[in-house]
Amino acid sequence: MPSVIYQQSQVAVKYLRDLMEGKIFDNPKDHEVLARFVEYVTSKDDLIVDFFAGSGSTAEAILDLNKRDGGERRFILAQLPEPTPEKSAAREAGYDNIADIGKERIRRVIKKLNEEDEGKLQADDEPAQDRGFKVFKLTSRNFETWDGEAPVASAEDASVLEERLLNAVENVNSDRSREDMLYEVLLRAGWPLTTQVAILKLADGEVFSAKSEENDTMFVCLEDLVNEELLREMIGQKPAQVVCLDVAFHGNDQLKTNTVLEMRDRGIEFRTI
Ligand SMILES: C[S@@+](CC[C@H](N)C(=O)[O-])C[C@H]1O[C@@H](n2cnc3c(N)ncnc32)[C@H](O)[C@@H]1O
Repeated sequence: MPSVIYQQSQVAVKYLRDLMEGKIFDNPKDHEVLARFVEYVTSKDDLIVDFFAGSGSTAEAILDLNKRDGGERRFILAQLPEPTPEKSAAREAGYDNIADIGKERIRRVIKKLNEEDEGKLQADDEPAQDRGFKVFKLTSRNFETWDGEAPVASAEDASVLEERLLNAVENVNSDRSREDMLYEVLLRAGWPLTTQVAILKLADGEVFSAKSEENDTMFVCLEDLVNEELLREMIGQKPAQVVCLDVAFHGNDQLKTNTVLEMRDRGIEFRTI
């Protein structure tokens, strides 16, 4: 690798303008130069992390490089949801923040690379490269948890306590999706965001089946109603762990107690949230 690489900055500017159909990001890095750096310092299955992702040039560099040399490098990009300037071309094109630009760029790059591959891959019988990405946003928790440390001393506190007790009955934030909740459950259990998850249909219900690297299975059932049949079907598949929503039992303490005992007998770790 030479000490100095000359590349006109306008090349990357023009390239990104064509890809995104507008000048929506100032001073993007040149993804071809980044690809040279990445190629020089990584092996084909390395993980590349960029904490200042901007328009996502690093992602493009890696996807491109993988296509060229058949590598399986992966990337993690982090980007603050930094607002795009008002009245900027980016805002007018519908990108409210920088992270939105990066996401759309990666979508477009993946589409472009897949299209380039189409005819070619059929010809030489190579399996297509698996291109994709997931997006996670840091946000508040999905479940209200009980704070047992909060002091209760006066009569005024008692009414506060009553309100907290009532709030704790419905502890799931209703504006969140099941996937949002699933990833919180996985993270709290110490499972990585890259955990493989399948969706099972059991007794008219939907159950997420997560597999750890050690091949343990965790069933996460986020249905707002569970019945005996659904619980029995989950137990029958002998997962290592089962997680359900507490509200899903709708106050049926007998069903919950029986479930706890039955799971314990089968060596299944059972939790409700
Ligand atoms: C210059 S851009 C990166 C450009 C990127 N290499 C490209 O080609 O698109 C830097 C980004 O880092 C983010 N950033 C700056 N300071 C940060 C900090 N302290 N923590 C996290 N992100 C930061 C900003 O949001 C900015 O969008």
